[in-house]
Amino acid sequence: MSTLLNLALFVIATPFTALVQGLFFEPYAALSNRTLSLEVALEKATAFIAQLNVTEKVAIVTGAGGSCIGNIAPIPRLNFSGLCLSDGPSGVNRNDLVSVFPAGLTAAASWDKTLVYRRGFAMGSEFKAKGVHIGLGPVAGPLGRHGLGGRNWEGFSPDPYLTGWMMDSSIRGMQDAGVQSCSKHFVGNEQETQRTNTVSSNGASIDAISSNIDDRTMHELYLWPFYDAVKAGTASVMCSYNRLNETYACENSSLLNGILKGELGFEGYVMSDWFATHSGVASINGGLDMTMPGSTDQASYGIGGVANSFFGGNLTAAVNNGSVSMTRLDDMIRRVMLPYYLLGQDKNYPTMDPSTIAILAATYLSGNSNIPARDVRGNHAGLIRELGSAGTVLLKNINSTLPLRSPKNIGVFGNDAPDPTEGLTQVTDYDEWGFNFGTLDIGGGSGTVRHTNLVSPLEAIKARARRTGARVQYVTDNAIIAANYFSTIYPTPDVCLVFLKTYAEEGADRTAYDAHWNATLVVENVARRCPNTVVVTHSGGINTMPWAQNKNVTAILAAHFPGEETGNSIVDILWGDVNPSGRLPYTIPVHAADYDIPIVNLTNVTNPGAWQSNFTEGQLIDYRHFDARAITPLYEFGYGLSYTNFSLHHNISASALVPNPTRTPNLLLKTAPGGNPDLWTRLATLETEVSNTGAVAGSTVVQLYISLPQDAVPAGTPLKVLRGFEKIHLNPGENQKVNFFLTRRDLSYWDTAAQAWALPTGNIRFQTGFSSKDLIQSTTFSMRE
Ligand SMILES: *[C@@H]1O[C@H](CO)[C@@H](O)[C@H](O)[C@H]1NC(C)=O
Ligand SMILES: *[C@@H]1O[C@H](CO)[C@@H](O)[C@H](O)[C@H]1NC(C)=O
Ligand SMILES: *[C@@H]1O[C@H](CO)[C@@H](O)[C@H](O)[C@H]1NC(C)=O
Ligand SMILES: *[C@@H]1O[C@H](CO)[C@@H](O)[C@H](O)[C@H]1NC(C)=O
Ligand SMILES: *[C@@H]1O[C@H](CO)[C@@H](O)[C@H](O)[C@H]1NC(C)=O
Ligand SMILES: *[C@@H]1O[C@H](CO)[C@@H](O)[C@H](O)[C@H]1NC(C)=O
Ligand SMILES: *[C@@H]1O[C@H](CO)[C@@H](O)[C@H](O)[C@H]1NC(C)=O
Ligand SMILES: *[C@@H]1O[C@H](CO)[C@@H](O)[C@H](O)[C@H]1NC(C)=O
Ligand SMILES: *[C@@H]1O[C@H](CO)[C@@H](O)[C@H](O)[C@H]1NC(C)=O
Ligand SMILES: *[C@@H]1O[C@H](CO)[C@@H](O)[C@H](O)[C@H]1NC(C)=O
Ligand SMILES: *[C@@H]1O[C@H](CO)[C@@H](O)[C@H](O)[C@H]1NC(C)=O
Ligand SMILES: *[C@@H]1O[C@H](CO)[C@@H](O)[C@H](O)[C@H]1NC(C)=O
Repeated sequence: MSTLLNLALFVIATPFTALVQGLFFEPYAALSNRTLSLEVALEKATAFIAQLNVTEKVAIVTGAGGSCIGNIAPIPRLNFSGLCLSDGPSGVNRNDLVSVFPAGLTAAASWDKTLVYRRGFAMGSEFKAKGVHIGLGPVAGPLGRHGLGGRNWEGFSPDPYLTGWMMDSSIRGMQDAGVQSCSKHFVGNEQETQRTNTVSSNGASIDAISSNIDDRTMHELYLWPFYDAVKAGTASVMCSYNRLNETYACENSSLLNGILKGELGFEGYVMSDWFATHSGVASINGGLDMTMPGSTDQASYGIGGVANSFFGGNLTAAVNNGSVSMTRLDDMIRRVMLPYYLLGQDKNYPTMDPSTIAILAATYLSGNSNIPARDVRGNHAGLIRELGSAGTVLLKNINSTLPLRSPKNIGVFGNDAPDPTEGLTQVTDYDEWGFNFGTLDIGGGSGTVRHTNLVSPLEAIKARARRTGARVQYVTDNAIIAANYFSTIYPTPDVCLVFLKTYAEEGADRTAYDAHWNATLVVENVARRCPNTVVVTHSGGINTMPWAQNKNVTAILAAHFPGEETGNSIVDILWGDVNPSGRLPYTIPVHAADYDIPIVNLTNVTNPGAWQSNFTEGQLIDYRHFDARAITPLYEFGYGLSYTNFSLHHNISASALVPNPTRTPNLLLKTAPGGNPDLWTRLATLETEVSNTGAVAGSTVVQLYISLPQDAVPAGTPLKVLRGFEKIHLNPGENQKVNFFLTRRDLSYWDTAAQAWALPTGNIRFQTGFSSKDLIQSTTFSMRE
C-alpha cells in the first residue's frame, strides 16, 4: 500500500472530533500539495463574492460560450480567468497530444487502488496542463444495473464497494494533480435508452425515464460510491439526465439538498449534465448550483453563447424578484469557488491550450484550422501499458497454453486485431457495433478520447515475434473468417490469437451480450482448425462466451478497454512479461437470460410520463442476483487466473475494535463530507495471510465478503457483499499478512424507519478468498447481541 493511501487511512482513523470543526472541507487535508487552509480558501471565496455585481454572480453559475465543452466566462476586472470544463473519465476529450487512458472498467478490473490513484493523477496532470479546471469524471452512475448499459465502461463495477474505492482513488489522484474532479452521474442514470426527454412524432415532449428506487436500495447500492466520492473531497457532482422517482434529478430537492448536501455533507457544487436542466428557480432552490452548457439551445452546444438559459437573465430576474435569495446565489458561488481556491487554481494555472477551440471545431464542424497543441502526455504511456495489463483478466488457461513459449508460427484473427481503417478518432455516430476494421481500446460518446498514438495488438504482436524470428499470419476480416475462408493460412499456427470486440457508447444501450461482428462463428471457425486457440475480448462490458467450453479454446483473456497501449498491454500478458492479475469486476453468465432486468424500451408513446423503470430487484444486481437465485455463473465476480498459485493458509483472526457499539451512528455529530463521521469509524478488523505457492512472481487480490444475519435484517438483503480487497504482489514462496478494516458503514444496513445506518444484532459471517465463489476461510462474530 502506498504512502498516500496510508495517509488516506490515517485521515479516516483520526478521531472525528478533531475533524468536525466549523465549516470545513476535511478531505482536502489528504491533498499532498494543498497549500491553503480551508479557512483561507473560504476567506478568498468570500472576498471574491463581495466584489461581484449580480450580473457577474449569475455568470459564475451559468455556462457560457468558449473553447471548452463547458465554460464559465472570465471576469477581467477581477483577474478571474474563467473556468474550463472538459470530458471525460478516461482522459482529456476533444483535444490533441493527450493520452487515451484505460477506461474505468479496466481500472476496476485491476482492483488496484494504487494504480488507479496513479491513473487519476496522470489524467489530472493532463487536464491541468491543457488549462482545464474541471475534468468531468469519475463515474459511479451508471453503476451497472443493466449488463448492457451503454456507459458502464466509463464507470467501474456494479459492486458499490469496489466502485467506492475506485472513486476515492481517482478523485484523490486527479485533485492531487491540481484539477477539480466531477463525480457523475447523480443518480440512477442506469440506462441510456430515453435517458433524457425527447419530442414525439406529434411534437409532444416525452419525459426522460424515471428511475424509481426505494430508499434502502438507494443508500446501500446507488448512493454508496457517492459517499466515498464526497468523502474524498470531490469538487463537484454532476446531476443526471433521468428523473428520480418522477422528478428530474437536477431539480429534485430531496435528492440534492436532502441527500447529497444534507446527509452526505457535500460542500462543493452540483452542475447539470449537458442540457439536463429543466427549470430555473425550481432547480436552483432544489440544489442545482451550475447549469451546463448554459444555453438550452442544443445547436449552440459548447461553442455558442447563452441565448436561452434557465439561469442567465432569468436568474438575475429571479434574484431581483426574490424567488431566488441572494443568500442562495452567494452559496452557489461559494461552492463553485471554494475548490478553485483550495486547489490553488487562482495561482499560475496554465492558460487554455489555444488548440482546444480548433479541435472542438474539427470534432463537430469539420473545421480544419490547425493550431499547434501542447503535448501533455509526459511519460504516461508506461502507466497506461501497465494498467492495461493489470485490468486484463485471464479466465481460462488449459494445458498451460499461456504464457506463450516462443511459438514460431503465430496466427492472429479478427477485426479487433489491426489498426483502425477509419482513422484514430471516433467522431462519427456509429451503428450499434461501431466501426468494423480496427482495434477497440475505448468506447464512444463524450467519454472517448482522440488518439495521438495507438498500438494495435497486431502491430505489437508482429514487433514481439520479430525478436525471435517467428512468423505472424493473419486474417482480420470477420466476414472472411465467418465464411470459413482460410486458404491463406498455411501451415496451421502453433497458436491462434483471436481478437473480439464489443462496442459501447453513450446515448445507446447494447442489445445483446455476445461480442460483435459474428464473434461466435469467428471463434468456432478458427478453433476448428487450430487446437490451440486463445481468445482476447476488448469490450465495453459483460459478454456471453458460448465458445468458452470449446476444447480447442485453450485460453481466454477479458481485456476490456485498455487505452492507447492496448497492443503492448496484451503482448506483455501473452508472453508472460507480466503475470495476469486482473479480476472480474462483474459476473459473466452462462446464458444472457441469467441477467433478466430489462432495459425499458417503449415505442411510440404519447403519455409524457410513460417511461418508468421500477428498480424492483432492489440490491440484487450482478453477483447478488446470481447468489439469490442460485444461478451458476460462467465466471464469477472477483474471478481471475494467474501464471502462479496463491493460497490463504491461516485462519482469519477477527476482532472488534469498538466494544459493543451503538446500533446507529452518533447522530449528534455534525455531518461532514462523507456523511456522519461515525460511519467511517472502524469497528472491526480481520487478519489473514496469503502466500505465493507457485513458481513465478505475481499479484493476487485477497477479497473479503460479509453476510449480515438474514433473520435480523429486512428482506432483500444480499446473501453476501464485498467489504474488503487488497492487491498483493508476492515472489515465489513469499507470504504476506493482509489486514482488513471494517467501518460502521461496512457492517450496517440502511434502516428506512430510523433513516439511519444500523448495525444488525446477531452473527455476521466474514469470508475471505480469491473470488466471490472461491471463499476459503470463514468466521462469524456479532457486533451487537
Ligand atoms: C503534488 O504532490 C505529488 C505527490 O507528492 C507530486 O508528485 C506532484 O508533483 C505534486 N503536484 C503538483 C502540481 O505540485
Ligand atoms: C457588472 O460588472 C460588469 C463588468 O464585469 C459590467 O459590465 C456590468 O454592467 C455590471 N452590471 C451591473 C448590474 O452593475
Ligand atoms: C489583477 O492583476 C494585476 C496584475 O497582476 C494587478 O495589478 C491587479 O491588482 C489585479 N486586480 C485584482 C482585482 O486582483
Ligand atoms: C421513491 O418513491 C417510493 C414510492 O413513493 C418511496 O418508497 C421511496 O422511498 C422513494 N425513494 C427514495 C430514494 O426516497
Ligand atoms: C426526489 O427524489 C426522492 C428520492 O430522494 C424522491 O423520493 C422524491 O419523490 C423526488 N422528488 C422530489 C420533488 O423531491
Ligand atoms: C428564460 O428562460 C426561457 C425559457 O424558460 C427562455 O425562453 C428565455 O430565453 C430565457 N431568458 C434568457 C434571458 O435567457
Ligand atoms: C490439452 O490437454 C488435454 C489433456 O490434458 C489433451 O487431451 C489435449 O490434447 C491437449 N491439447 C493441446 C492443444 O495440447
Ligand atoms: C456474418 O457471417 C455471415 C455468414 O458468413 C455473413 O453472411 C455476414 O455478412 C457476417 N456478418 C458480418 C457483420 O461479418
Ligand atoms: C429499443 O427499441 C428500438 C426500436 O424501437 C431499437 O432500435 C433499440 O435497439 C432498442 N434498444 C435496446 C437497448 O434494446
Ligand atoms: C479441434 O481441433 C482439432 C484439430 O484441428 C479438430 O479435429 C477438432 O474438430 C477441433 N474441435 C473443435 C470443437 O473445433
Ligand atoms: C410507431 O410509429 C411509426 C410512425 O408513426 C409507425 O410507422 C410504427 O409502425 C409505429 N410502431 C409501433 C410499434 O406501433
Ligand atoms: C411501477 O410501480 C408503480 C407503483 O408501484 C406502478 O403503478 C407501475 O405500474 C409500475 N410500472 C411498471 C412499468 O411496472
